[in-house]
Amino acid sequence: VTVPLEIITTATAQTLAAGRLLGALLRGGDVVALSGPLGAGKTHFVKGIARGIGVSADEPVVSPTFVLVREYAGDLTLYHIDAYRLGSADELRELGLDEMRTDPDGVIAIEWADRFADVLPASTCRVELAHSGPETRTLRVAWPDPRLAELRRGVENGL
Ligand SMILES: Nc1ncnc2c1ncn2[C@@H]1O[C@H](COP(=O)(O)OP(=O)(O)OP(=O)(O)O)[C@@H](O)[C@H]1O
Ligand SMILES: [Mg+2]
Repeated sequence: VTVPLEIITTATAQTLAAGRLLGALLRGGDVVALSGPLGAGKTHFVKGIARGIGVSADEPVVSPTFVLVREYAGDLTLYHIDAYRLGSADELRELGLDEMRTDPDGVIAIEWADRFADVLPASTCRVELAHSGPETRTLRVAWPDPRLAELRRGVENGL
């Protein structure tokens, strides 16, 4: 059992930087589940992940609120899902979750994932974001993977 990593960011750019550090550690098959209230910074964290997996800075990463899933090509393929409007785990599967999961070069990031925790793999990297002030967010990263220690070191080196 590993202790979750707590990251406090005091600007949007720091949440992006934290996501980027995580993105650089990801491998095909990984799932990142994001939870936290409206405006907590889930989408900005995923933007950072996209940069970390090598999605070009020219490519805007925007919230998949209406399309539910967006795909970005970097060194890996990022599947960015917004589960806010999904009513059931079946709807998540209908989006093609199983196909995304079997893409050997695919990484999945799901916003509002807490309601679907039971259909996500045990190896999922869970990121919980909370408001701690107008520009301050507290991120808790729970990841049963030795890479959490690498992320911790990266964050300690500065965001
Ligand atoms: N420290 C911070 N980290 C992240 N975002 C911050 C921070 N401080 C201010 N913000 C602002 O908070 C907002 C976060 O928006 P974002 O779309 O990333 O949240 P979200 O959790 O994805 O929301 P939603 O539930 O609507 O999908 C942005 O406007 C961002 O600039
Ligand atoms: Mg969002």
